[in-house]
Amino acid sequence: MGKPDLLLIGRVTDRMMARLTAEFTVHALFDQDAPDGWLRENGHRIVAVSTDGHYGLSPAPVEFLPNLKVVSSYGVGYDGIDADDAAARGIIVAHTPDVLNDEVADTAVMLWLAVSRRLVAADRWARSGDWEAKGAFPLSRSVQNRTVGILGFGRIGQTIAARAAMFNATVLYHARTPKDVPQDYCADLLDMARRSDVLIVITPGGAATRHLVNAEVLDALGPDGILINVARGSVVDEAALVAALSEGRLGGAGLDVFEDEPAIPDALKAMEHVVLTPHIGSATVETRQAMGDLTCDNLSQWLTDGTVLTPVPECRALNGA
Ligand code: NAP
Ligand code: 8YV
Repeated sequence: MGKPDLLLIGRVTDRMMARLTAEFTVHALFDQDAPDGWLRENGHRIVAVSTDGHYGLSPAPVEFLPNLKVVSSYGVGYDGIDADDAAARGIIVAHTPDVLNDEVADTAVMLWLAVSRRLVAADRWARSGDWEAKGAFPLSRSVQNRTVGILGFGRIGQTIAARAAMFNATVLYHARTPKDVPQDYCADLLDMARRSDVLIVITPGGAATRHLVNAEVLDALGPDGILINVARGSVVDEAALVAALSEGRLGGAGLDVFEDEPAIPDALKAMEHVVLTPHIGSATVETRQAMGDLTCDNLSQWLTDGTVLTPVPECRALNGA
């Protein structure tokens, strides 16, 4: 019997490709001249999909994949996959939690420090000759002894909290449910924003969290407040953010994610009090390798016994049931 057929959505590293091709006949969707036509003709052969947080499952309608049994996604966020629909169809969805907690938490802290201490503007001052021409760089703001509000207090949010402690921060958090942790739970996001110097966003994306951070929340954070978003662009109302920053109602922002990636509003690009990174929260060689390995491990285990190591919550009941 031949190897089972896997549909690859997006691009993978050579290391991942070697593992996938060892166990599956791999069909790379983006290598097809007419992906839709290819899917219509060949979709019935596909039993497994390997995708990522960016593409999810949207370029390959599940209707074209009647024999699909497992989807392994490279990334922890799976807002690009309709996991409830997959579960209803008996398809197990796996993702890559935990292996990226440290990297994404580091990215959040890096952005917070860069905005507060004005790292990018200071670098420019040093390179441009402004130091010689204009003298000392203007004073920045300390990250010590701040109140840090964390919106989303799961795996990554709690990892960020541990790092904030190193800066003598008072950490508050808002999530759907309170946790058994020493930090203070804020049932009301607005209240947390009012009390915070820095608001760090690290919830999942998707409809349930869309624009949780709106104009009201940004005004509550205030003219000295800093917003850090390492979650998904959809969680923050970007138009409201641009308005608050340009009108001086918000002090600054560090953004790794955007509403319409890879497009970033020109207004944000022009702002000195904003630090931008192109969705690199987990993007180191080490962490991406760990994510790739787990993506492949999930598929290998599924081939062995029909279960995956790290199913998304919506599919836990299917996993081994
Ligand atoms: P997690 O462990 O599932 O934690 C998610 C947290 O968000 C939980 O505390 C959850 O509340 C909270 N939450 C969910 N819906 C909410 C809502 N409507 N209102 C308030 N809080 C809500 O997930 P994680 O592993 O920490 O990852 C979080 C997200 O980070 C991912 O889904 C992904 O979108 C993003 N991410 C981004 C990057 C990047 O490169 N920038 C990298 C990795 C992940 P409860 O605890 O009450 O359920
Ligand atoms: C990746 C992410 O950039 O894990 C996530 O949710 O956003 C990032 O780690 C993405 O999934 C890779 O496509």
